[in-house]
Amino acid sequence: MKQQILTITENTPVTASVYRMRLEGADLEQQKPGGFVNIRVGGLFLRRPISVYDSEPGSLTILYKTVGKGTEQMSSLKPGETLDVLTGLGNGYDLSKAGEAPLLLGGGVGVPPLYLLAKQLTAAGKKVSAVLGFNTAAEVFGEEAFKALGCQVTVTCADGSYGTKGFVTDALPERYSYFYTCGPEPMLRAVFRATKTSGQFSFEERMGCGFGACMGCSCRTITGYKRICREGPVLEKGEILWDA
Ligand SMILES: Cc1cc2nc3c(=O)[nH]c(=O)nc-3n(C[C@H](O)[C@H](O)[C@H](O)COP(=O)(O)OP(=O)(O)OC[C@H]3O[C@@H](n4cnc5c(N)ncnc54)[C@H](O)[C@@H]3O)c2cc1C
Ligand code: FES
Repeated sequence: MKQQILTITENTPVTASVYRMRLEGADLEQQKPGGFVNIRVGGLFLRRPISVYDSEPGSLTILYKTVGKGTEQMSSLKPGETLDVLTGLGNGYDLSKAGEAPLLLGGGVGVPPLYLLAKQLTAAGKKVSAVLGFNTAAEVFGEEAFKALGCQVTVTCADGSYGTKGFVTDALPERYSYFYTCGPEPMLRAVFRATKTSGQFSFEERMGCGFGACMGCSCRTITGYKRICREGPVLEKGEILWDA
């Protein structure tokens, strides 16, 4: 983990409520797929955790949805302004288990952490399928970006206004070697039930302290409670115990 002051070089809307922000810093290292950063937003006590969408040495891109005070404030920032960011957080996805034809399943703002993963998997010669799920056509983002990497992309919308009608679990391909997923908890539970292979889940649970002290983000596993902010956000399918 590293605390650094990063300069905003882009902050543009990609839908009515989702923004893409690019940050740059001379000491910024390449981030892990499935890793996250924790952003201090002026006047707010708790930092806001946001997944890494894309990363190269010296730059980092995030996609965030405006849902409250912190993200609203972020959306008003302009290129040239700076942010205090904790980088290099989270265990990230383990790419070594992907097999030849991994499947990526993302729902809403669970889509962003899958992009850097898709980039690295396709660069490694894997045949990647991605199913990106949204509520409605106006919320869809990422389709072209994943296609440009060479992924086989299916978009689902719950209301049938674009792509396949339904949820990501209604569009699972026949065959895949392994899966990686991120999205809201009801979606993750459905993916847990519907998938036939092993895989990894990234939890974007609401965090408290963000550094392991409050247990506010804990998830029950076969080896006891794990804190999403410290031992996560990625957990293996085989270790998760869902509470009723
Ligand atoms: C590891 C991790 C990675 C994340 N990655 C992303 C990302 O890539 N893009 C993105 O848009 N968001 C992401 N989130 C969620 C993001 O952190 C929250 O949306 C953000 O902190 C909200 O801050 P706020 O001040 O705008 O909202 P607040 O004022 O704190 O809350 C406003 C409303 O949003 C709800 N809310 C807040 N946080 C969450 C949450 N984590 N999940 C669901 N509802 C929430 C609150 O209950 C409340 O109703 C991630 C969260 C975690 C833990
Ligand atoms: S947010 Fe406090 S322990 Fe994870």
